[in-house]
Amino acid sequence: MLKIGVLVSGGGTNLQAIIDNIENGYIKNAQIVTVVSSKEGVYALERAKRHNIEGVVMSKKSYSTADEYYDALIKHFEDRGVGLIVLAGFMTVLGEKFVKYYENKIINIHPALIPSFCGDGFYGLKVHEAALAKGVKVTGATVHFVTAETDAGPIIIQKAVEVRDTDTPEVLQKRVMEEAEWKIFPEAIKLIAENKVKVENGIVRRID
Ligand code: GAR
Repeated sequence: MLKIGVLVSGGGTNLQAIIDNIENGYIKNAQIVTVVSSKEGVYALERAKRHNIEGVVMSKKSYSTADEYYDALIKHFEDRGVGLIVLAGFMTVLGEKFVKYYENKIINIHPALIPSFCGDGFYGLKVHEAALAKGVKVTGATVHFVTAETDAGPIIIQKAVEVRDTDTPEVLQKRVMEEAEWKIFPEAIKLIAENKVKVENGIVRRID
């Protein structure tokens, strides 16, 4: 049984998609054992509670150094036997110490087709604002392994979504979530739980 720890910062619709796909049996051999939020009072914590999943707040700001924060996070996940860490709308950058400790065991969802509209400063609605400002006709979402460089780790799954002339950032964000994020994030977790992906020279390969 793969034990999953989810890191969140907001509404948690991606967390919900993962919970639903574990409960409906699409993702087998996996369970979420803890949800860690960077902020108090976010709706993602309420979603965890409703499904009887532990929810805690650990904020980088409340530790005197980044290393202390990473040590506390590592201890929290180790104590629970976590084998996969899922960043589901998590807005804190994780440094080398944490990322190296869990090499190829942390995945993130990004609301664009990496390498477009990604890296430092591209998060949440800003990603969709940038896509609309550029006038791209197709955007999408990417699930990737996390490395110390923001949004630059090995890509696991991508899905394209059309951009429409009438889109606002909010409308586009919703379409990207519905048509891409809520599908490919559970799909990536399913593949990992079934040991069907490996990373070779920075590239993800499927094992069938
Ligand atoms: C999602 O669109 C996710 O892709 C994005 O934040 C949103 C969180 O929504 N993540 C990033 O921008 C990470 N750089 P949620 O809390 O409803 O899952």
